[in-house]
Amino acid sequence: MNSQPNEKNKTLGTQTSAQVAGEIASENDAATTRVPFTLRSLLKMVRSGEKFACLTCYDATTARWLQTAGLHVLLVGDTAGEVILGLPNTMHTPLDFLVALTAGVKRGAPATLVMADMPFMSYQADDAEAIRNAGRFMTEGLADLVKIEVDRSFAGLVAKMSRAGIPVVAHIGSRPQHVKMHGGYYAAGKSAESAIALLDDARAMIEAGAMMLLIEAAPSEVAEQIVRESTVPVIGCGAGSSCHGQVVVLQDLLGMSTWQPAFALPTAQLGGQIMAAAKIWMDRVKSGQLGEHPYVMNDAQRASFGETLKHRNTAIPRVEPKQ
Ligand code: KIV
Repeated sequence: MNSQPNEKNKTLGTQTSAQVAGEIASENDAATTRVPFTLRSLLKMVRSGEKFACLTCYDATTARWLQTAGLHVLLVGDTAGEVILGLPNTMHTPLDFLVALTAGVKRGAPATLVMADMPFMSYQADDAEAIRNAGRFMTEGLADLVKIEVDRSFAGLVAKMSRAGIPVVAHIGSRPQHVKMHGGYYAAGKSAESAIALLDDARAMIEAGAMMLLIEAAPSEVAEQIVRESTVPVIGCGAGSSCHGQVVVLQDLLGMSTWQPAFALPTAQLGGQIMAAAKIWMDRVKSGQLGEHPYVMNDAQRASFGETLKHRNTAIPRVEPKQ
């Protein structure tokens, strides 16, 4: 990783704040004038054979840029616990935290389809609690869809959530919230028997009313068969190219992660760019070259300030800490 500021960064560093503000304003205009991309738009795309793109997103600012780029779906994944909070795995991601992040993402990208991930223990213990928590994602969190990690045993819950008007994305295959059950991360459907089980999970979820499937870490021939049999859009995450849409964690794509999944080849090296930008800032702080300074005193106030200082007692009395 290149830690030295390169020529391009230096050039970017000399852009005036007016130029930067102008560029951002025009990007903002593009973002706010976008025709809303809805579940209906997505179904239309899938029907016409066009692939849709999804990325994880955890904040309003990034959401705005991703919407401006034209992203179809943003997933506020429970990976936020790892990426944002530095937690060891997604089992620790707090519910309230994820609801708040989802609302932030939707506010940043109001014309983009936003999918909220329901975290560990927000939907497994009790169906009524699961529906209420999903409802929070839809109302407080402004989500368009909620995603839960499931197998066919969750068909009853998916049916109840659908009945309540909550569009469910059924995340099947590898389920990171089950990491402790497997003693580590795992791929699903690698044996003929588990591949058939995955097809059965997919079918049960569709029959229960799931609006979409998400298959994580499965062989491409298994995902291909699910896509063939499915009547709803299928998103792949390490499940091969046959899926209708694809999702990866944004920070993996941007080259900011310490571990890189093979199916999420980085399209940028932002880790290096962040370091370079921080080094430029350190240099600026050291040399005092901080750009334009907008806060100025007029001559009369400066003179009055100087005059007052002449009579000011500048010795600050020492205050002894209370016992
Ligand atoms: O939480 C997450 O980021 C996910 C994946 C599918 C990327 O669920």
